[in-house]
Amino acid sequence: MRRKVIAGNWKMNMLPNEAISMITELTPLVKDSENEVVLCVPYTDLFYALLTAQDTNIKIGAQNMHFEEKGAYTGEVSGPMLKSIGVEYVIIGHSERRQYFAETDETVNKKIKAAFANDLKPIVCVGESLDEKEAGKTAEIITNQTKLALEGLTNEQVRNTIIAYEPIWAIGTGKTATSEDANNSIKCIRSKIAEIYGNDVAQDVIIQYGGSVKSSNAKELFETSDIDGGLIGGASLKAEEFSKIVNYNK
Ligand code: 13P
Repeated sequence: MRRKVIAGNWKMNMLPNEAISMITELTPLVKDSENEVVLCVPYTDLFYALLTAQDTNIKIGAQNMHFEEKGAYTGEVSGPMLKSIGVEYVIIGHSERRQYFAETDETVNKKIKAAFANDLKPIVCVGESLDEKEAGKTAEIITNQTKLALEGLTNEQVRNTIIAYEPIWAIGTGKTATSEDANNSIKCIRSKIAEIYGNDVAQDVIIQYGGSVKSSNAKELFETSDIDGGLIGGASLKAEEFSKIVNYNK
């Protein structure tokens, strides 16, 4: 049985004092959850978040990283830098980074390899735009993004990659994919992985859904056959709301 991973993506929100308060409030609310709880926070919150979440079941991730270990890349943060302070997860290839910061399938692939080289667990985002959805291209887009993201990884690395299926039209819009559509898209991604890396590997890969997940729709989404939790934006900023998503099965 695959575990469920419920990850928050705070995006460019939360000052350190807000991060500390949120995690302090969240800790008792999720301490008994059997689901994995992750918060991916801005770089400037990482250290505070790690200290506050120490000795809890809340794991901390970053939202991006550079693929080189060090060098003349002003403003960038590398895998060894994240690892050195105790970060465990890193989101890679979020659609906002693809859209606003020229992230490509190639850089996504390099970053995933760099994440593994530094013992960080990548949460890799794929998803179609509204135009692509309306043109009936969802399956083609998301399976191709998945294939390119995972290219050159070992079976073991693929097994340990978390994929987040996030339809772009559902992000921050209040429009959620129906649980049936989201589950079907995730099945397509899993079949593609099975085709390339074998069914054994594909059955182990955690594939989340993201896009306007809230406490009111989490249960329906996460109880489908193939959705293994979620990547949560807006609803991860408030401890109580996020805890209800984490505890969707209670
Ligand atoms: P929302 O939950 O705010 O729609 O954001 C989803 C997302 O982009 C998570 O990475």
